[in-house]
Amino acid sequence: MKYGHFDDNRREYVITNPRTPWPWINYLGNEDFFSLISNTGGGYSFYKDAKFRRITRYRYNNVPMDSGGKYFYINDGESVWSPGWKPCKTELDSYECRHGMNYTIIKGTKNGVEAEATYFVPLKTWAEVQKLTLRNTTNEVKKLKIFSFVEWCLWNAASDMENFQRNFSTGEVEIEDSVIYHKTEYKERRNHYAYYSVNEPIQGFDTDRETFFGLYNGFDEPQTVLEGAPRNSEAHGWSPIASHFVEVTLQPGESKDLVYVLGYVENAQDEKWESKNIINKIKAKETIALFNTAAKVDTALAELRTYWDNLLNVFTINTGEEKLDRMVNVWNQYQCMITFCFSRSASFFESGIGRGMGFRDSNQDLVGFVHQIPERARERIIDIASTQFSDGGCYHQYQPLTKKGNNEIGQGFNDDPIWLILGTTCYIKETGDFGILDEPVPFDNKEGSEVSLFQHLTVSFNHVVNNLGPHGLPLSGRADWNDCLNLNCFSNDPNESFQTTENKTEGSKAESLMISGLFVVYGREYVELCKKTGNIVEAERAQQHIDAMVANVKSYGWDGEWFIRAYDYYGRKVGSTENEESKIFIESNGWCTMAGIGLHEGMVAKALDSVKERLDSEHGIVLNNPPFTKYYIEYGEISTYPPGYKENAGVFCHNNPWIMIGETVQGRGDRAWEYFRKICPAYLEEKSDLHRTEPYVYAQMISGKDAYLPGEAKNSWLTGTASWNYYAITQYILGIRPTYSGLMVNPCISPDWKGFSVVRKFRGATYQIDVKNPNGAMKGVASLKVDGKLIEGDTIPFMKAGATYKVEVIMI
Ligand code: GLC
Ligand code: GLC
Repeated sequence: MKYGHFDDNRREYVITNPRTPWPWINYLGNEDFFSLISNTGGGYSFYKDAKFRRITRYRYNNVPMDSGGKYFYINDGESVWSPGWKPCKTELDSYECRHGMNYTIIKGTKNGVEAEATYFVPLKTWAEVQKLTLRNTTNEVKKLKIFSFVEWCLWNAASDMENFQRNFSTGEVEIEDSVIYHKTEYKERRNHYAYYSVNEPIQGFDTDRETFFGLYNGFDEPQTVLEGAPRNSEAHGWSPIASHFVEVTLQPGESKDLVYVLGYVENAQDEKWESKNIINKIKAKETIALFNTAAKVDTALAELRTYWDNLLNVFTINTGEEKLDRMVNVWNQYQCMITFCFSRSASFFESGIGRGMGFRDSNQDLVGFVHQIPERARERIIDIASTQFSDGGCYHQYQPLTKKGNNEIGQGFNDDPIWLILGTTCYIKETGDFGILDEPVPFDNKEGSEVSLFQHLTVSFNHVVNNLGPHGLPLSGRADWNDCLNLNCFSNDPNESFQTTENKTEGSKAESLMISGLFVVYGREYVELCKKTGNIVEAERAQQHIDAMVANVKSYGWDGEWFIRAYDYYGRKVGSTENEESKIFIESNGWCTMAGIGLHEGMVAKALDSVKERLDSEHGIVLNNPPFTKYYIEYGEISTYPPGYKENAGVFCHNNPWIMIGETVQGRGDRAWEYFRKICPAYLEEKSDLHRTEPYVYAQMISGKDAYLPGEAKNSWLTGTASWNYYAITQYILGIRPTYSGLMVNPCISPDWKGFSVVRKFRGATYQIDVKNPNGAMKGVASLKVDGKLIEGDTIPFMKAGATYKVEVIMI
């Protein structure tokens, strides 16, 4: 069953039934000020850091689901209702939510009144703007009482949820004109406050939550709204909120706009106060003035749309497959930008208080957005590399506010360093900015420790070389990409985290075939980069290590039909026919086939066939099979999950693309395409009841074939799935790949595709690429012409910037 539809022209997903099988959300803001918003107006805002600068309160995992948000209540004399259905849940005459690129429009109608709320964060603005348009569609005069509502969070989202003995006494507000200011803790250590305004004189307000709702009422029945009268409460402690009361009279056919601004301000120490205990409101008033008319708001929204046009025009496809086109042209790229902004911090599955920026995650995310915002990708690479240690090792995560490594989340994940080579080389191929390699970058953010970024790549490479196990394969450390395959933890205490508990690396024989493949793939990238930059001796040294790794994988990593996953602490095989459970895993087979290890000996084809036979399912490729059915202390967290969920035989959508890419190495475009479609959300829209999460973005996991209910997705939005699927479809299936010598066009597609076209902006030039597949091939380029001129090979050489070129590619 569907709950809405795509509106491709407007780049929106239109939800027409508010009772979605899970809140379907969107993100507002793309630089400093951010909001999450659900299809019924639920969600919250924060400034930069979802933990330390939480502006409004939200209740995760509550009853009912999705409680707390940016609500409008309308009392029209007959009923009390909200344009987004929730929180009132009064049946509406019509409902529609349009999630667009960083804006959301929620429209409801009731008793002849239409209320449309547009929410967005204007570019370069520390505020969310809400335009509420009210229309009287009847022949009678309508008298409406409009109550706005937000609930302030006391800044630190973690202590806000637990330290009630303090929290209930700290809340402070100021009310001046139509603006409600939230200034809790401003008089002591904070340099920031928040505010909520409306561009109309108000006829009342409330700032004390219990006064507004009544102590025993829910969000659906605020007593003031039901009574049609605010109480002008001023919060002192307890839970401060902001609610404006505006009375609106609409003549037949008349409409009216109200503009609300929810903003954040920072003031320098000596500018904090206007007078004793009265906060300095200058900056708030400046921002409010920028958006005090509907016309100004419309202009700001138009600017945001143009901003997105420019981001999305860098890469557009036309394949004739509507669902594919809308994913690649709009939603997949959008999700990649969202993961750039949020990493894994704040979604409806990530509470915004736990995780910072992952070292490996952020590098992988980069491949999904580097073509859109190369300058910000550059900054991100330097930030990430600055947290690395001099031996190449890494903190697993760093905090976005401080940009410093976070030791509480641990270290010793031995795949981490290698991803820096991926992020950096992708960036250079996109931009040609080899200069980044000379940037001085510190270790562990210590001043004076700077070396060039290139040397950071060298220590990354060496970290693997210096940490090999008995078979000459990479030691896995605490874990490799699979955070939950903890081969050295041996945890028996439910109160400790697998991520940070003891890591018995002394004497461990735990080796990872996933890191082996990863090392071969990005080690080769390192070699290529060394050659490009004239480091020939280093290139040769590195190549020898790669050759040795390939040989060791063939000798010790091959199980006969597939690549084994690992050796455990004791040196026993993991992911082998020898094992009772989990005889085969996806990760090592993905990476070793992407690396083409044993391509000529048939290993790649065999491994991929085994994946097809044992791991593939209707809902995608599961991570391992058969699933673990009991706890293996020597494997760790992976065996804590019930079969079919998460890393224990779930369809982990992040790593399905590795198999797609592996299939393109083998030249089997039909299989790659089949795998792509299985987990691509636009293709799952019809079964939203089962899938549950948004049909416009990827989820991290879909429950696997061994789960109680296979096919249910969880953890949508913030996942490496976004960038990996984008990377697989654009660079390997469609085959449009930036290289050091130009733009490669080498597709690996389904044989029933007759062709497709792409417009790609690259290094300042625009390429209109037309691929034709007259003979139903899966892979192979017969000819490539640029503006009618035949070019040798499959790569368009760099052409003069500023111009547009017609490229024709004929497949064999
Ligand atoms: C999550 C983590 C990622 C990890 C993956 C597998 O997606 O963010 O870092 O690689 O899980 O455990
Ligand atoms: C949990 C998740 C996993 C994630 C890890 C890191 O183990 O299952 O996906 O990578 O936490 O925090």
